[in-house]
Amino acid sequence: MFPRGRKLLLGVAGGISAYKSCDLLRRLQDEGFIVDVVPTAASLNFVGKSTWEALSGRKVITDLWSDVETVPHISMAKESDLIVIAPTTADLLAKLASGRADDLLTNIVLASTAPKILVPAMHSEMWLNPATVANVKLLQERGFFIITPDVGQMTGSDIGIGRYPESSRIITEINLHVMNSADLKGKKILITAGGTREPIDPIRFIGNRSSGKQGFALAMAAASRGAQVHLVSANTDLPIIEGITTTYVETAEQMASVLQIEFPHSDALIMSAAVADVRVANYSDQKIRKEGLNQVDLEKNPDILKTLSGIKKSGQIIVGFAAETSADIASLEQSGHEKLASKSLDLIYVNNVSNGAIFGSDQTQGLIIDNQKKVIKVPEISKDTLSDILLDQLVSKLG
Ligand code: CTP
Repeated sequence: MFPRGRKLLLGVAGGISAYKSCDLLRRLQDEGFIVDVVPTAASLNFVGKSTWEALSGRKVITDLWSDVETVPHISMAKESDLIVIAPTTADLLAKLASGRADDLLTNIVLASTAPKILVPAMHSEMWLNPATVANVKLLQERGFFIITPDVGQMTGSDIGIGRYPESSRIITEINLHVMNSADLKGKKILITAGGTREPIDPIRFIGNRSSGKQGFALAMAAASRGAQVHLVSANTDLPIIEGITTTYVETAEQMASVLQIEFPHSDALIMSAAVADVRVANYSDQKIRKEGLNQVDLEKNPDILKTLSGIKKSGQIIVGFAAETSADIASLEQSGHEKLASKSLDLIYVNNVSNGAIFGSDQTQGLIIDNQKKVIKVPEISKDTLSDILLDQLVSKLG
């Protein structure tokens, strides 16, 4: 399974190596993860709550009975894209294997569908005990990824298997086994979302129904695949995505000028925003009275995609979107081919937004068309899933 974003929950159980997770937390932040720490009550004997709050820069909740009104075990389970528990003690392995939920961390684990990585650390005898071995096997069968402990010196003088691994090994294992689709690492992806608005006067504007959900889903998916994402958002009501650079614009001209600056040093542009084709010729800085509204003169906005295709360097990829109002697949496909060709795109996603479909919805359906005339029919799926399918195509074009 692949995490949808970069929000990581770091569980810390009550082993002496809990102090090593302070370094792990720092290294995870260096990797671009936003980390919430959930220490068990026992672990607070080794590292206190204040340390975790200072290091993570985030509020730390340590028990089920804090902030009850926000139902933290459910909200944290939903918001976390990945759970790493380091160290995981023998006791916690046993609890997880039997599905127990008697504290905040075990409740979150039970409620979460995110990938889970356990970093057991304990004395060799405990690690090799048949009970622990059976618990580890059961957890693996249930999809937990276990990073086997290192061999080396234990807390005392004895040497054996059970040591907490170096942070660098844990990070490598996360990247290899969970973030193994980090196929956009090192790539800079520019994504537009929402719909531009063209002001008529201080009160009114010409706009469209785009919610920005698709662009935000793409930004999240690209970031979770390792890309450095710059999101240009036009008039959306969506919450900011932590860790993603976002520029807010209102009009097509503002969007065009941000993209003119950002596109030359990006590897790809995904233009999912709905851009107004026209703007008001004579903006009035005073409210226009109703008698004056019989006619509003319009002038053409620049076609942003066409302009940027003109300065595109080899290796750069441009993805367009097209919202159409035809249920007929053949005409949808034809308009996709035409727009792809006229705007010199590498890929286009064309969809039918008639009767209130798709705009504002979490679901989408349509056609992906590429510059080799390959057509992929997309049945009704979530905008998150479409994001990954489109990014798969983008990755193959980026080489
Ligand atoms: N687009 C753009 N600049 C514009 C208008 C559209 O860059 N001024 C982009 C959109 O962001 C989208 C693609 O072009 O990715 C197709 O947009 P669409 O509105 O479907 O196409 P238009 O060329 O505007 O054609 P029409 O409105 O006539 O269907």
